[in-house]
Amino acid sequence: MRAVDLIYKKRNGSELSASELNYLVQGYCQGEIPDYQMAAWTMAVFFKGLSAAETADLTMAMANSGDQVDLGKIQGIKVDKHSTGGVGDKTTLILAPLVAAAGVPVAKMSGRGLGHTGGTIDKLEAIPGFQIELTQENFTRQVNEIGVAVIGQSGNITPADKKLYALRDVTATVDSIPLIASSVMSKKIAAGADAIVLDVKMGSGAFMKTLDEAEALAQAMVEIGTNVGRRTAAVISDMNQPLGYAIGNALEVNEAILTLQGKGPHDLTELCLTLGAHMVVLGGLRASESEARGLLEQKLRDGSALRKFQQFITAQGGNAKVAEHPELLPKADVLIEVNASAPGTVTAIDAEQLGLAAMQLGAGRATKDAVIDYSVGIVLSKKVGDRVEAGESLAVVHARANNNGTDEILKQIQNAYHISDQPYSPGPLLLSIVT
Ligand code: URA
Repeated sequence: MRAVDLIYKKRNGSELSASELNYLVQGYCQGEIPDYQMAAWTMAVFFKGLSAAETADLTMAMANSGDQVDLGKIQGIKVDKHSTGGVGDKTTLILAPLVAAAGVPVAKMSGRGLGHTGGTIDKLEAIPGFQIELTQENFTRQVNEIGVAVIGQSGNITPADKKLYALRDVTATVDSIPLIASSVMSKKIAAGADAIVLDVKMGSGAFMKTLDEAEALAQAMVEIGTNVGRRTAAVISDMNQPLGYAIGNALEVNEAILTLQGKGPHDLTELCLTLGAHMVVLGGLRASESEARGLLEQKLRDGSALRKFQQFITAQGGNAKVAEHPELLPKADVLIEVNASAPGTVTAIDAEQLGLAAMQLGAGRATKDAVIDYSVGIVLSKKVGDRVEAGESLAVVHARANNNGTDEILKQIQNAYHISDQPYSPGPLLLSIVT
């Protein structure tokens, strides 16, 4: 087999076999196929697409390129959840203890943030003492004992995807539906869960800008999961503004705790209950989404979801007192208000711009090795649909006193807000479910 023939075949719109896709993935992963040939192939895929069978075969070739996590020693149906990436997305911090309190075992690997998006592992590390590394034995024991563990991604999960993703990032081939679908699903399959719930974001802050694109991506991922024997459901949600009010690690932990106390923002609570209900159904604990939702609402109301969060934090070395004393979380030096320059109604908030502003404050990484500051970030005062008067607060910036770029960042946050003198009602948060 030769890479050039497979590029030619795809360029002409023909279908590749499983062994041809394996040859490409393995050859690239092992350094036998150079970047320029793989880049040509991904561009051919960008224009010609992949069939459902090719997408499934590419996914499995990438899932098999590194370690496969064996969750076999964990009792029950393990249900994983994955978000396609957003701003202010702290759902895992809420969902993991919430569904664990309902009886679904959560054995989860999460990632760090890069660029304008945050990562669950960074948020958990904002809790003093929290350890994101556990041995396989302790990971298994913890899930069997308390029902939940969340750790950082091991170094050798889907190395082919890591390499291919970095190549796609610099060759304008990220936003291809079959390539995103195979990238996400290869990681989920290698991580070993029996069932998967996907949170597909749509809007200005997401890869998928329209509902049609988001639905096509969701369909592709659900089809891959189903084809490889993992029950999969996808919830499509709006990312035309950040989720909740807080952006930044410690600030998001605080908002997650408020949500577990039943005092969280409506959009965040609603998304968690919807994703969680699908996890409970796929986990076999309830037959319908409405029954599952009722169970989760009860776990929020009776305090057991919050207690599970504390148990989970304690088990991984963190200070669970943060749940009652948020002042124990890292704190910024200064709080600065960003005010509206004119009155009106907020019609849109550019989530990507706010994510970038939070990153520049120090909450995220511009490069893989950058050190982050857990205390800094942004808390929105207004969301889409809210009325605002001139001079009223749009957002509060939590910053370090010595950040020289703060003035520029404040301007950027102000520009992220679109304000109109016409009334405006926000669209729905939950757009579609694909099963
Ligand atoms: N997230 C992923 O894991 N992979 C992609 O290709 C895009 C988003």
